[in-house]
Amino acid sequence: MKESTSHLVRVVNILQDGEYHDGTSIGKKLNITRSAVWKIIKKLTQYNISINSIKHKGYALQEPLVLLDKNFITDAFKAEDLQIEVFESLPSTHTYLRSFMPAYNVRFCIAEEQTDGKGRFNRKWHAPFGQNIYLSCIYPFQKDISELSGLSLVVGIAVISALKEVIGDQVAIGLKWPNDLVYQGKKVGGILIEVQGESNGTCQALIGIGININMLHNETVHIEKEWTSLREILGSYLDRNTFCVSLMRCVLKYLELFAIGGGLALFYEEWQKVDALNGQTIEINTGNDMRVKGIARGVNFLGYLILEKENGEMQYIAAGEASILY
Ligand code: BTN
Repeated sequence: MKESTSHLVRVVNILQDGEYHDGTSIGKKLNITRSAVWKIIKKLTQYNISINSIKHKGYALQEPLVLLDKNFITDAFKAEDLQIEVFESLPSTHTYLRSFMPAYNVRFCIAEEQTDGKGRFNRKWHAPFGQNIYLSCIYPFQKDISELSGLSLVVGIAVISALKEVIGDQVAIGLKWPNDLVYQGKKVGGILIEVQGESNGTCQALIGIGININMLHNETVHIEKEWTSLREILGSYLDRNTFCVSLMRCVLKYLELFAIGGGLALFYEEWQKVDALNGQTIEINTGNDMRVKGIARGVNFLGYLILEKENGEMQYIAAGEASILY
C-alpha cells in the first residue's frame, strides 16, 4: 500500500511536455537529488509507464500522462468534513475501505493502480497505473437498509452527471441496468455496491466506481468483455483530476438527495434519459445460470428491471446481469 507522493506527481508534471529533461535539472526544480529523480523514474517504469531515457539528454514520456494530485483533489473539498485518501497503489480501494466499516463519516479512497481490483460477480477489474479512475466511498445513511432500494441506479446517474459536467452531453454514455456505464454497447465503467446494516437501524454503503478514462486497446490490456474509454471515444487525453473532483461532487450531491428521502423516484426522469436497455430485447442472468429473456421496459421505483416476457407477462427483477440480444 503506497500513498501518493507529491514528488512523483511533480516529476511527471515536468515531463508532461513530452520533451527531454535531465535528472539534474528536474532535481533542481524540485529540490531533490539526481538519484532521487532516478528512483522516481525507475518507479514509473515499474508501473509500466513508457519513458525514453537518453544519456546527456535525460528522460521523456512516450505517452501523455497526468497523475492524480492529492492536493488538488483535497483542496476542492477543504470546507467539507470528508476524509479523502489518494494512493499510488492498493490491492483494491474497495477492500481497503471495507476494513474501516462501520464508519460514521463519509470517506473516499482513490488509487492510481489496483493490483487486485474487484468487479461484480467476483470478476477482476483491470486497473493499470495512472490511466483510469478507481474510487471507493463509504457513505453512512440514517435509515434502515431496506430503504436503500435503487441506490445503485442513483450512483450510476451521479456518475453520468459528472461525465456531462466534464465532457458535455454530446457523447451518449448510458447506463445498462443496474449500473454499467456503456457507450455503443461497450463498457466504459462499472459500479460495485455493498450495503451493511447496523443494529441501531442505520446503515452504510460501500460504493466502488471504476471508469476507463485514458486506457487504450493494446497488447497489455486483456479484458474479456467489449470495452472502451473516454480517450478512445473523444480522441483526446483527459486530466483525471478535474473529473475526479466532479465525480466526488456529483456522488455527494446525489447521495445527499437520496438520503433526504424519496428514494429513486426523485431521479426517475434522469434514469429514463440514460437507460440504455429500454425497449431492447435482452437476456438477464439472475445468478446460478438462471436466464430470462424479454423486452426491457424500464425500472420501477425500487430499481427493479421490468421485463416483458414473450407471453406478455411482466417480471420484476431485483438483481442480475443483462445482455442485449439483438
Ligand atoms: C463492475 O464489475 O462493473 C464493477 C466494477 C467496479 C470497479 C471499482 S474500481 C474502484 C473499486 N475498487 C475495486 O476493487 N472495485 C471498484
